[in-house]
Amino acid sequence: MRLNTKQLEDFERDGFLIFRGLLTQDEVNALRCESDRLATIEADYIKRERNGALRTIFRVHEDDGPTRSAAFRALSRTPRLLGTAMQLLRDEDLYIFHTKINLKPAIEGTIWAWHQDFGSWQLDGVPTPGMITYLVMLDEAEEIGGALYLLPESHKLGTVPHIEDTAVGALNQYSLRRDVLVGALEARKPIAVCGAAGTVAVFHSNVIHGSGHNMSARDRRQLYVVYNPVANKQRPVPNPRGDFVASRNHAPIRLGEDSDVLACARQTTKDVAESATA
Ligand code: SIN
Ligand code: MN
Repeated sequence: MRLNTKQLEDFERDGFLIFRGLLTQDEVNALRCESDRLATIEADYIKRERNGALRTIFRVHEDDGPTRSAAFRALSRTPRLLGTAMQLLRDEDLYIFHTKINLKPAIEGTIWAWHQDFGSWQLDGVPTPGMITYLVMLDEAEEIGGALYLLPESHKLGTVPHIEDTAVGALNQYSLRRDVLVGALEARKPIAVCGAAGTVAVFHSNVIHGSGHNMSARDRRQLYVVYNPVANKQRPVPNPRGDFVASRNHAPIRLGEDSDVLACARQTTKDVAESATA
């Protein structure tokens, strides 16, 4: 898959792109099974809502560790994701800064306060905001279900001041300073990234975004894959955050095949069945 000139221009202008139906229904089904399997695993970097419901499963793209997943790893290396990321970042040597599945469970999933990702990633020692995130819908995303809102063109503001704000009750640590946020929201209209499972969006690390409570009866599971050029890898900082959120594996990743997602998911199903009967 190659992005055309219009898509590249749209990304420059708006700070994001949306691809409808990028994953097949078979892939969506297989990745949902993988998400369900991972949701049974305990790791100290799995994050929970205040009531104990699962909020985030990190680090699903590596080939080691408790939350490894061959299918999510394969997805992060497909031409559809990695290939287009190389185009958007104009660099073939990319590594994955982190991956996470945000589960936002029905009724219980809570908000992500407005922020720019680079607001916290710069504190991890990443030199420039030339990083992008792919959002992959594993369920249909609807406004009532806490869809992600993106503020078009907000990447052009640069990285704006963030504060540790507990006032809105969100679990994410940093959010935009209130005056900056009000100004940005009055200047532009946020768009809700809604769509069927299999829809994918990609956005720049300075795009202002956030999402509300899941008021619906259905989970809103979304995978996020963050790519960073090796040349922009994080520099040492005092008290670095964990590898699961700011990866120290800076080896450039190489393109796989689109068909690897289903092949890997099938293999995992087989392995799990075999280990259950062993
Ligand atoms: C994020 O901004 O990191 C996640 C937001 C969401 O899943 O709604
Ligand atoms: Mn974010």
